[in-house]
Amino acid sequence: MLLGVNIDHIAVLREARKINDPNPLDALGICKLGGADQITIHLREDRRHIHDNDAKVIIEQSSLPVNLECAIDEEIIDIVCKLKPARATLVPEKREEVTTEGGLDLEGSFDRIKKAVKKLHENEIEVSLFIDSDKNMIELSSKLKVEWIELHTGAFANIYAMLHGNLSNSHHSIKELELPRNELKKLLNNSRKEIKKAASLAQELNLKVAAGHGLNYQNVTKISSIKTIEELNIGQSIIARSVFTGLETAIKDMKELI
Ligand code: PXP
Repeated sequence: MLLGVNIDHIAVLREARKINDPNPLDALGICKLGGADQITIHLREDRRHIHDNDAKVIIEQSSLPVNLECAIDEEIIDIVCKLKPARATLVPEKREEVTTEGGLDLEGSFDRIKKAVKKLHENEIEVSLFIDSDKNMIELSSKLKVEWIELHTGAFANIYAMLHGNLSNSHHSIKELELPRNELKKLLNNSRKEIKKAASLAQELNLKVAAGHGLNYQNVTKISSIKTIEELNIGQSIIARSVFTGLETAIKDMKELI
């Protein structure tokens, strides 16, 4: 299973002080030593972590392919076309959200996405769509002629965390938290089944399948055991562990698990 390491959170730490340390660029060689197959970064509209110059130097200097996540916004797509990463992953983006919540609405935004995909393809950039595990979304992805889809595992990860008590107080408004354990177990099984079914359908339609969001050292094998998924993109849990073990070991540990 391929591993894309999302290094945004290194820039999050830097932005806490608005200085140059730690520099996400310094992670590239370590990610490679740890066994990462890809570097993933997200150029958000509000530039809250990765800045344009980070993206530029990371893409120029990385010996691993770079997957650049971005919103379907004309200005951002133009920047991405100039930066020329190996892959662009289109994600829904709201300024007020803490992280990317939910997959793209391919139905409502079909024409905008089609235009963005065309531009990216003209610039020889592979395209991935970050979507929920939904039959309609997979079929629309196929119509959009993208190379990849990335299945959003956030809902799965949330249920896993509820079941295993790994949620902070900030999540206590989630209504499922009041559910009994056997109900949560059922929800978790159903969520995994939906991801597996979506991955199989996508593969039948000749789409390459990635997955990500909220995956960590506890829950990841439930997803990495789905053989139709080729790649996982993981950020927060790897960078969090690296505070204690160092980045190379944190990546090696994850690579071993998946
Ligand atoms: N994949 C996509 C498309 C994302 O937007 C993110 C978060 O930036 C990730 C994967 C990684 O999620 P996490 O940091 O929870 O591992």
